[in-house]
Amino acid sequence: AKKFKDISMAVIRRLPKYHRYLKELLDKEVYRISSKELSNMMGFTASQIRQDLNNFGGFGQQGYGYNVEELYGEIKKILGLNISYGTVIIGSGNLGQAIANYTNLQKHGFNLLALFDTNPKLIGMRIRDVPIYDIDEMQEFIDTNNINIGIICTPKEFAQDIANKLVKANVSAIWNFAPIDLKVPENIIVENVHLSDSLFIISYLLNNQEKEQWD
Ligand code: NAI
Repeated sequence: AKKFKDISMAVIRRLPKYHRYLKELLDKEVYRISSKELSNMMGFTASQIRQDLNNFGGFGQQGYGYNVEELYGEIKKILGLNISYGTVIIGSGNLGQAIANYTNLQKHGFNLLALFDTNPKLIGMRIRDVPIYDIDEMQEFIDTNNINIGIICTPKEFAQDIANKLVKANVSAIWNFAPIDLKVPENIIVENVHLSDSLFIISYLLNNQEKEQWD
């Protein structure tokens, strides 16, 4: 895949939103959109959109706007969503199972191959078709199944230990749901998710009577 360097995280964090909106347009059979319409829809200025896309070579055409299919394809490639990733979930409780049941993961190329847990009641079960294995089998499973991404859904006390094991097993990235800051080598990609961060924004806004949109 083409490599992009020195793109700011702010730009990168907007890409999934482009991806989502362009998919919606395609679903509505809209194949061409002016930069103005796209900006109205997304809440970014037309110049913001132009600047964002210029980081990757720019895709619009003066007087034509954007070819939705083409731009969607490009954003997909830029996000690496045209590639498939071997993925495992560690911690198969409420959250781990919910993520395993979220089929969009699969649809976007995150190929979930196994879950792991320590609880004998869960080991041997399947979520959809995906088996839950004993955590002691994780290292070997990752070694033999070309796993790129580990999703941590254990209680926070165990998360660092799991992260160490994932690093040792050579995964490239960790999607961490446990509420702790993991310490991992620099070359390991970690993306933390805290659903409640978003919820707390609601309570802030409720209490400050803001009416603005945020992204
Ligand atoms: P849960 O208790 O339902 O599931 C945790 C699972 O981890 C259990 O099945 C347990 O047996 C397993 N486990 C414990 N130690 C393990 C180990 N060493 N190796 C493998 N599996 C192990 O808990 P729930 O509700 O699913 O939450 C899981 C984690 O996700 C917690 O850390 C929680 O704080 C966090 N969480 C984070 C959210 C977020 O937005 N970031 C939202 C909800 C939960």
